Amino acid sequence: MSTLQAPRGTFDVLPEQSALRLAVEVAARRILEAAGYRRIETPAFEDTDVFRRTVGESTDIVQKEMYTFVDGGGRSLTLRPEITAPIVRAYHEHGMHKLAQPVKLWYLSSCFRYERAQAGRYRQFWQIGAEAIGSDDPAVDAESILLLAAILDELGVRGVRLRLSSLGTPASRTRYRELLQAHLRANEDRLSADVRDRIDLNPLRAFDADHPGTREVMRSAPLLLDHLDADDAEHFATVRALLGAGGLEYEIDATLVRGLDYYTRTVFEFTSDALGSQSGVGGGGRYDGLAEQLGAGHTPGMGWAAGIERILLAAEERPVPEPVCDLYVAVAGDGEAERTAAFLLAAEARRAGVPAQLELAGRSVKGQFKQAARLRARYVAIVGPTGIELKDMESGEQTPAESPSAAVATVLRGRFAA
Ligand code: HAM
Repeated sequence: MSTLQAPRGTFDVLPEQSALRLAVEVAARRILEAAGYRRIETPAFEDTDVFRRTVGESTDIVQKEMYTFVDGGGRSLTLRPEITAPIVRAYHEHGMHKLAQPVKLWYLSSCFRYERAQAGRYRQFWQIGAEAIGSDDPAVDAESILLLAAILDELGVRGVRLRLSSLGTPASRTRYRELLQAHLRANEDRLSADVRDRIDLNPLRAFDADHPGTREVMRSAPLLLDHLDADDAEHFATVRALLGAGGLEYEIDATLVRGLDYYTRTVFEFTSDALGSQSGVGGGGRYDGLAEQLGAGHTPGMGWAAGIERILLAAEERPVPEPVCDLYVAVAGDGEAERTAAFLLAAEARRAGVPAQLELAGRSVKGQFKQAARLRARYVAIVGPTGIELKDMESGEQTPAESPSAAVATVLRGRFAA
């Protein structure tokens, strides 16, 4: 393993990509904050129990994907594989249940999962997400889904489809699980070994299997959506009606399985046809039991997360904005006094709000002009033994500046004129 390579499944965010990611952040912030969401940031690691109790012991995430370690004090900590459970933890830790409900929080943070690395699937990746905690109103579900749709639309994500389902409440799910387990047991010999081993622990995952025999068995399996209790069915009907009223197209997918166990009622996923096998751009749902799993009182919640890398892979190409340089400060000669004057001029320009760069590589004057041209500088200030000359790179005109402030004032006038 080379120490000159990022670890497998991770990547460096280089300056060009950083500019594109900023576009995702700006769109998310604008759309979510306009709907009353405020940004939150939790630590990169949590007590391992935060995830074990909520994401679920039987999930791939808890069984094989968590980066768990013991710290110097003997505590088991885990790099967050997701951010919903930490946010519900923070909501209770900071007494947010005392605020007007629901409390609406958004985030942009990295997550860590030890997954098989491939295009669109990484071991450290970034999510934008939104959580509305403290209300079980189905309008929260519909609004939250519409907000993610608006963000994907604004960013030009191609071939977007929305799949929607309801998982009901734990009580209706327990009844349904028994039905499903009976169906799986009756067809046990046709299932993959993996699915057979999980009949007791997680029979729902059978819907997710690629194995041909299992898929065949699942075609005639009972569906949870047909076994919701009356309240859950009504909640789901209202979510659907509101999404319809909001003009959002969706498909009902009774077999939609999310990789986390904390969901109740609404679940959904946005996929993009522009992505390969890792087609999930964003997903989420309602998690009315999550707070209790963490030891807090009953607190309904609803939210989603979307992967920034997948959004960018699925979005239309957009130009990478060039960094702006309005003033390049060049030095003529190698006197200490000129170098200091140039340094101070660049600092003064920046204080006045002018994007300015200083010569830092000991280039000749000709080399400095070449560098200024590379940066597309609007003006070059040449600081020499006799004072400052300011060259307008568009007109080619070069004039002496009486003082550093006068040079900065000229550049500022040029900026506003442009
Ligand atoms: P999730 O579906 O596990 O849900 O992840 C959300 C999104 O994160 C996925 O749709 C995908 O875009 C991205 N993602 C997941 N794993 C990877 C990976 N290994 N590499 C790149 N991108 C990835 C959650 O995490 C829930 N916390 C969502 C939620 C919020 N539910 C309620 N509130």
